[in-house]
Amino acid sequence: MSFDQAKATLNKVGYLNIDLPEDMDYVAEIIKLKKEKNAIILAHYYQEPAIQDIADFVGDSLQLSYKAAEANADLIVFAGVHFMAETAKILNPNKKVLLPDLNAGCSLADSCPTDALQALKDKHPNHIVITYVNTSAEVKAISDLCCTSSNAKKIVDSVPLDQPIIFAPDKNLGAWIQKETGREMLLWDGACIVHEAFSIDKLIHTHKEHPKAKIIAHPESEEHILKTAEYIGSTSGLINYVKNNPANEFIVATEAGILHEMQKEVPNKKLIPAPSHEDNTCACSECPYMRMNNMKKLYLCMKYELPEIHVSEEIQKKALIPIQKMLDISAK
Ligand code: 13P
Ligand code: SF4
Repeated sequence: MSFDQAKATLNKVGYLNIDLPEDMDYVAEIIKLKKEKNAIILAHYYQEPAIQDIADFVGDSLQLSYKAAEANADLIVFAGVHFMAETAKILNPNKKVLLPDLNAGCSLADSCPTDALQALKDKHPNHIVITYVNTSAEVKAISDLCCTSSNAKKIVDSVPLDQPIIFAPDKNLGAWIQKETGREMLLWDGACIVHEAFSIDKLIHTHKEHPKAKIIAHPESEEHILKTAEYIGSTSGLINYVKNNPANEFIVATEAGILHEMQKEVPNKKLIPAPSHEDNTCACSECPYMRMNNMKKLYLCMKYELPEIHVSEEIQKKALIPIQKMLDISAK
């Protein structure tokens, strides 16, 4: 299929929808394309295991931003969600950045439209705006600072105490940071659909069945879940905790994709995914956006170099400022 024909299928559905032989060896083909095109594949811990296994680097959203900033490949293939690929593009405006499925969004980013955040800013002109990286490039462009779950405390602590703050869009992360820093902030009312789906009743029940297990949680989880946790941290923080803690059993409250890398790090420990409300059969929580990517879409996106992430020069320049400030503060 020609590039133009491929592009036509992309325009209809947001990813390349092309028939391929059933026995296609995606691993071999992707490795070949990686070499041919001098491409780097960056994958988030919430991607399906096959994608994590073929990626050049797997990490949390902060680590992936650093990797994107230092990438010297010609092609950056982002196996994650849209805001992550956009961040990579903002950091590398002259490079081609690909995302296997353009529909891979995020409920947090969707909860914070630029005009609504601008209206809040206008109402509180003396506040500065700290946004979680789970936002669009346009929202970053009107933010003063960005943060991720692994550096949010450090970023908030870097702001003078008498400076009022608007924190968007995750109210759960924001509330947790307020507690950690003792800092009152004006919180946006957004949430992650995956982390808000954990069931406290089922979690207590699971803990009764595994009384020695330590509960660990991502800070996007609701307060009643976080209250039960012995450790709260970003995806990489959770992996490090399980690695370094002497316990042998953990109940993990975050997207289930993390268990792949976690289990590799601690093959002899028992990892139990925290149960969600919906889930009566498999006790797992998967982000429907993260899971839009698969090996077929990854292969096709590398072959045709589509879909590509575009950010206008004006937005790129403005959005780079809070991202770069975040990277500089976190590196200190
Ligand atoms: P991390 O920053 O822990 O990777 O979490 C990001 C996230 O929410 C991915 O959806
Ligand atoms: Fe967004 Fe939640 Fe999915 Fe992360 S897990 S991409 S925060 S919807």
